[in-house]
Amino acid sequence: MPLHGFTSILLCSLPVWIILNPVSSHPQLSQCQLIQTTALCNNGKLSSVPSGLPDYIEELQLNYNHIQTLQDDSLLFYPLLHSLSLACNSLDKLESNTFQASRALQRLNLANNNLHAGYQETSHALRTMPALRTLDLSENMLNDEMAATLLTNLTFLEYLNLSGNLLQRLDETSFRDLHQLKELNMQRNILFEIDGAFESNPKLQRLNLAFNNLPCLTDFHMTQLVVLNASHNVLEWFISRQDLNDTFLLETLDLSENKLLFFPFLPNHSHLRNLYLSHNSIRFYEHLANNDTLTNWTTTVEFYNLRKYQRNMTARLWDDGLHGDISSVEILDLKGNQVVYFPEGFIQKMPNLSRLQMCTNCLETLNMTSEQFPGSLYELDISNNRLSQIVADERTLTALGNLTYFNLSLNNLEQLPSGLFSTLPSLRSVDLSYNNIDICLSEEAEISGNATSACVDLRNAGLLRQLYLKGCNLQRIPQSAFAGLLLTHLELSDNTGLIAHQSIQGLSRTLQHLGLGNTHIREFDFSHFQSLKSLNISGNSLAHLPQSLLNIDLKVLDLRDNRLSTIPSAQANILATKLHTLFLTGNPFNCCQAEWFRTFETTGTINMVGRSDVKCEDLFQTTHRVEHFQSHVCLEESGESVFWYILLFIPIFLSFLGISVLTLITFKPKLLQKSIKKKCLKPTSY
Ligand SMILES: *[C@@H]1O[C@H](CO)[C@@H](O)[C@H](O)[C@H]1NC(C)=O
Ligand SMILES: *[C@@H]1O[C@H](CO)[C@@H](O)[C@H](O)[C@H]1NC(C)=O
Ligand SMILES: *[C@@H]1O[C@H](CO)[C@@H](O)[C@H](O)[C@H]1NC(C)=O
Ligand SMILES: *[C@@H]1O[C@H](CO)[C@@H](O)[C@H](O)[C@H]1NC(C)=O
Ligand SMILES: *[C@@H]1O[C@H](CO)[C@@H](O)[C@H](O)[C@H]1NC(C)=O
Ligand SMILES: *[C@@H]1O[C@H](CO)[C@@H](O)[C@H](O)[C@H]1NC(C)=O
Ligand SMILES: *[C@@H]1O[C@H](CO)[C@@H](O)[C@H](O)[C@H]1NC(C)=O
Ligand SMILES: *[C@@H]1O[C@H](CO)[C@@H](O)[C@H](O)[C@H]1NC(C)=O
Ligand SMILES: *[C@@H]1O[C@H](CO)[C@@H](O)[C@H](O)[C@H]1NC(C)=O
Ligand SMILES: *[C@@H]1O[C@H](CO)[C@@H](O)[C@H](O)[C@H]1NC(C)=O
Ligand SMILES: *[C@@H]1O[C@H](CO)[C@@H](O)[C@H](O)[C@H]1NC(C)=O
Ligand SMILES: *[C@@H]1O[C@H](CO)[C@@H](O)[C@H](O)[C@H]1NC(C)=O
Repeated sequence: MPLHGFTSILLCSLPVWIILNPVSSHPQLSQCQLIQTTALCNNGKLSSVPSGLPDYIEELQLNYNHIQTLQDDSLLFYPLLHSLSLACNSLDKLESNTFQASRALQRLNLANNNLHAGYQETSHALRTMPALRTLDLSENMLNDEMAATLLTNLTFLEYLNLSGNLLQRLDETSFRDLHQLKELNMQRNILFEIDGAFESNPKLQRLNLAFNNLPCLTDFHMTQLVVLNASHNVLEWFISRQDLNDTFLLETLDLSENKLLFFPFLPNHSHLRNLYLSHNSIRFYEHLANNDTLTNWTTTVEFYNLRKYQRNMTARLWDDGLHGDISSVEILDLKGNQVVYFPEGFIQKMPNLSRLQMCTNCLETLNMTSEQFPGSLYELDISNNRLSQIVADERTLTALGNLTYFNLSLNNLEQLPSGLFSTLPSLRSVDLSYNNIDICLSEEAEISGNATSACVDLRNAGLLRQLYLKGCNLQRIPQSAFAGLLLTHLELSDNTGLIAHQSIQGLSRTLQHLGLGNTHIREFDFSHFQSLKSLNISGNSLAHLPQSLLNIDLKVLDLRDNRLSTIPSAQANILATKLHTLFLTGNPFNCCQAEWFRTFETTGTINMVGRSDVKCEDLFQTTHRVEHFQSHVCLEESGESVFWYILLFIPIFLSFLGISVLTLITFKPKLLQKSIKKKCLKPTSY
């Protein structure tokens, strides 16, 4: 976002600011600060360009002011200017001769103004800048015609930002004169059609079309483009020209958050490295190609009259051999699609694949032996699928020499290839949460000569550091399960009734994060866990904070949903010196023993997550927010309390009030009548 960019620039340069002396110079100068040849006049209340700045300035920033017009003489005094920024003013127009003296101006930022109002005159002004390379016109309510007018004859422009405008359609007239254009940002317009728009821009390398309404990109043939971002549209088709022999320079293609049904039809030859396809409806249809039962199915889609001058397009469906060149792909993000299987040989086409993100798809089985993942694979995320089976032989696993992160959580796994974790040479992090997997007793692991085993064998997984086994229905972890491991993260939450004390104690030297939420653990001794930084013991019905926590150097502590009624001052004082983040909601705290809350509050270094939702109960079992509760209402230790005084006082006060009213009514009826009349009735004329 524009605003953030500017503020960070401002903040970064703060230390070197030299404050100009407001007395000795032009009054408006007090708004500006000068660093060498840069004048910073942002956030003033300027309504015009200050005229008293040194004439040698090269950069002038006037963002967040109230300037409405740049006049012909506004910049006359600054002939050396090469960068001018006027974002977030209320500019209607730039007068035709604004830049008559600014022959060197290369960068002009006009983002967030009202140039739709005076675009005609502004376009004259822009045309007089022979050196202009970078132009930001974002957020100016420009439509197609206005943009085309503003861009006429800007032959040397290289970087153009039109984001956040009202463009609907791009055609061959839109950027006709921008022969040097390298980068174009068209984000957040309302584009629904692009027709021959970039034929005149042979140098265009980066094109951002995100957040528009484009329904398809067919006939893609911009061979020079390196980055194309068409995420957040309504694309159903992405089809490249398949008859081109040229190698496309495309490296990054972002088509995420669209409506693709098919894997994109990529160029035949390209260097595509990063392919982002998350949140579409992509699946593979290999089983429908050459399928005799489906003879009547359409096998091709034709696109007619795409361009005035070009031929029709035909895309062959169902044939998954047509994906184009994916041989350089390193990152493939298919999160949130509907992939049930990979077509045969699909993975093998990507020998440099490093990250495969398949989270939230419909994979049912994974045969790693037949897929042949490449040795370069670093991260494999197949969480939240329907996996019930993983097959892999030892040779395949040994070859995955770079696999470091392996996420299999949220599946239906009950079996795993035996020795999976001891065979993968570089494995550091495994997530098996929410599967039905046990941890092997060592005897179990040894006798099993089977290819798969119903339990996780962790022996010899020497490099493993992070192990997530949330919600796996674990009952008992064998004493020696983690022997020889140097785990830093162990997550065992949501395994109700888990018995694991002894096995975990074996990790006391290395563990930095331990998750034991919702396990019903009791009486756990944490005092040996000298490396532990983060602990989750939420949902365990704990009535007291374990004393052993005070001896270790915790930074993050999750105590939600227990039965804590208070945290004794002595404990609170110690925790306050160590913790950074503390979760406390869902405990039945006693409002009258909430000293700990003030302790944490006054420390200032603790982030109490959901602070305003930390509740307590008072003497009458009424629930309050701890942060608002007034503790003087409580019965104090000495036995006396304001509360009782109030209780005592109320009846006395009420009787007194009653007596007074009665007296008044009885003895001064006239007075009362008068006063009622005066206050409540309007005078009526009879
Ligand atoms: C406009 O796009 C350029 C890159 O093309 C970028 O540097 C600039 O920050 C963008 N401006 C806004 C307001 O998004
Ligand atoms: C653009 O440049 C061409 C050639 O220099 C010139 O003939 C034409 O009048 C210019 N157009 C505008 C609108 O200035
Ligand atoms: C594409 O644009 C969107 C929206 O600006 C952005 O979030 C995303 O990171 C971009 N993709 C790439 C690959 O840069
Ligand atoms: C591109 O690939 C398609 C499908 O494999 C093929 O029909 C076409 O002839 C190829 N084009 C070129 C120029 O190689
Ligand atoms: C592609 O290359 C083939 C042979 O190398 C050639 O016959 C064909 O005409 C070329 N096609 C194009 C569009 O250049
Ligand atoms: C043909 O399609 C049917 C229906 O989708 C599928 O069940 C079957 O496996 C397919 N046959 C082949 C040979 O892929
Ligand atoms: C294919 O279409 C023909 C004529 O439209 C029809 O008679 C036939 O039953 C169809 N076959 C299948 C397998 O649907
Ligand atoms: C495109 O297809 C339409 C409909 O079949 C046809 O009338 C037209 O001649 C085709 N155009 C080209 C250039 O092949
Ligand atoms: C794979 O990566 C290596 C090393 O980065 C590179 O030399 C090679 O060209 C890449 N292969 C492909 C097909 O891109
Ligand atoms: C896995 O793939 C291998 C190699 O293609 C094959 O021999 C094996 O039968 C497959 N296993 C299963 C369970 O499909
Ligand atoms: C392993 O993965 C990392 C991270 O992606 C990468 O930098 C490295 O080159 C890969 N190594 C091999 C042998 O592919
Ligand atoms: C191997 O697996 C089968 C089926 O899961 C099971 O019946 C058998 O007991 C296993 N054998 C060993 C040695 O664990």
